[in-house]
Amino acid sequence: MDGKALAARVRAEVAYGVAELGRPVGLATVLVGEDQASALYVRRKQEACEEVGIEPIHHELSGATSEEELLALVGRLNADERVTGILVQLPLPEHMDEGRVIRAIEPIKDVDGFHPVSAGHLLQGEPTFVAATPAGIMELLAAYEIPLEGARAVVVGRSNIVGKPIALLLLAENATVTMCHSRTRDLPGVVREADVVVAAVGRAGMVTREMVKEGATVVDVGINRVSGKVVGDVAEDVREVAGHLTPVPGGVGPMTIASLLRNTVRAGEYQAGRLAFPRG
Ligand code: GUN
Repeated sequence: MDGKALAARVRAEVAYGVAELGRPVGLATVLVGEDQASALYVRRKQEACEEVGIEPIHHELSGATSEEELLALVGRLNADERVTGILVQLPLPEHMDEGRVIRAIEPIKDVDGFHPVSAGHLLQGEPTFVAATPAGIMELLAAYEIPLEGARAVVVGRSNIVGKPIALLLLAENATVTMCHSRTRDLPGVVREADVVVAAVGRAGMVTREMVKEGATVVDVGINRVSGKVVGDVAEDVREVAGHLTPVPGGVGPMTIASLLRNTVRAGEYQAGRLAFPRG
């Protein structure tokens, strides 16, 4: 499944949406500390913004910044009319409470979909902002017409930003969803039952060929660096048995960025009163 090609289509739609909105759209990105991977991800998001006519508004803070200073910045971004969406890149330095920082973001600007209000809307079947990676995965599955109704879906990994929301989204499409994690008994046996597998653990090659049913759809969310190379959570040879597979790179990654852009225009639409935003 070619995430790069589909993401280009989504970006074109977003560019159209930005132009059509008729008011400026800005995405504030906040990077705290010197993590190289995070810096690269944020740079990619800024470049993607520029491409579709969203103004990137970047804030870079040193790793020694206090949580209070970061919360004060989030408060200013909440109040700033130029800022349509706010993205605080995770992980944050150890001395900060990520939950507290995310909760400080105004739900109507929560384009990452990490705020408990956004997560709650998703849980109750009325999504506002869905986290970009799971939203992008659903769009890929839809584009490739992967049947989900009554399908067995197995999600490996239970993070708040991928595992839990993708499980809810698959459930909303009437899949029978099983969530697996580090304490799951007989992981290979459970995964082997799946028509759709989502691997979101962050461990290179953890889904192996022996674990995948012939013809299954396999979504690889992993980005792992192994001796200088970027590889996913799914082993190379799974492609021999999978019916559909997302490559790493070029699968889920580009869709994540495209979905973030889409959420940012949607935030602009809410703020312009074009879409009703449920009260948080
Ligand atoms: N860290 C890893 N993925 C993400 C993401 O999608 N958004 C943010 N803010 N931080 C991340």
